[in-house]
Amino acid sequence: MNRLIDKVAIVTGASSGIGRVTAKLFAAEGAKVVVGARRQAELDSLVNEIKAAGGDAVAVAGDVRSEDYHKALVAAAVKNYGKLDIAFNNAGTLGEAGPSTEVSEAGFSDALAINLTASFLAAKHQITEMVRHGGGSVVFTSTFVGYSFAFPGVAAYAASKSGLIGLTQALAAEYGPQNIRVNAILPGAVDTDMYREMNDTSDKQAFITNLHALKRVAAPEELARSVLYLASDDASFVTGTATLVDGGASITRT
Ligand SMILES: NC(=O)c1ccc[n+]([C@@H]2O[C@H](COP(=O)([O-])OP(=O)(O)OC[C@H]3O[C@@H](n4cnc5c(N)ncnc54)[C@H](OP(=O)(O)O)[C@@H]3O)[C@@H](O)[C@H]2O)c1
Repeated sequence: MNRLIDKVAIVTGASSGIGRVTAKLFAAEGAKVVVGARRQAELDSLVNEIKAAGGDAVAVAGDVRSEDYHKALVAAAVKNYGKLDIAFNNAGTLGEAGPSTEVSEAGFSDALAINLTASFLAAKHQITEMVRHGGGSVVFTSTFVGYSFAFPGVAAYAASKSGLIGLTQALAAEYGPQNIRVNAILPGAVDTDMYREMNDTSDKQAFITNLHALKRVAAPEELARSVLYLASDDASFVTGTATLVDGGASITRT
């Protein structure tokens, strides 16, 4: 408990799944949290839950494809809580899936816009504010897909998410001297809306489960605890990493 006491955090993709659970864990650990996503009602219910548990949070709804939205999230952190220490840039989309020879330019570009460009725009404004207060920690949600694992039919997802690893390294090198740490978390399969949408039959779920050494998929809470580690001062000498939290999917060949 209290690992984020006096810290101020932004969490995107907070309306469901990994982001929602992580925002609640951050708040339980003492952080004041600005939560973002497009669905206002889901954000409002999250803020109510956090407050009912004794924490503090505000919701700012918007679309991560807009640079102005990232400015608004940072402005909300500063206006409500005075600073920004932590950013979990987690909003993401599978994007247009299917045979790559049939994927449209618009579909490919949109996956890049949501998964990669938005993360760059977020970090641009977050780091500007963090530097003013002596440092901070940025965490991006990437994935094992396109890094240590390949699937057919998800080229836009794999390309956009693996781009985050280069972004992580570049920002970590550039802003390390100003005490900014930047890391990417690479989940294996996690039981969320996105996972259930991708794996809508028991056969598909059995196939995905078997890819992991642990022979199960993760609960969102298991990702949240790893994000908490990277965000917190427990990881004070950890930067520029691609941190696999994949239940051993990357080393499994059976
Ligand atoms: N589940 C897995 O197996 C898995 C594995 C590896 C990586 N990931 C990554 O984990 C992250 C979280 O996904 P999840 O599994 O927790 O699925 P999820 O429950 O579907 O969450 C996706 C989140 O992203 C937000 N989002 C999507 N597009 C957005 C946009 N244009 N603007 C603002 N917010 C947007 C959604 O909110 P709104 O719809 O309200 O906007 C939602 O909160 C994603 O980046 C995903 O790629 C998931």
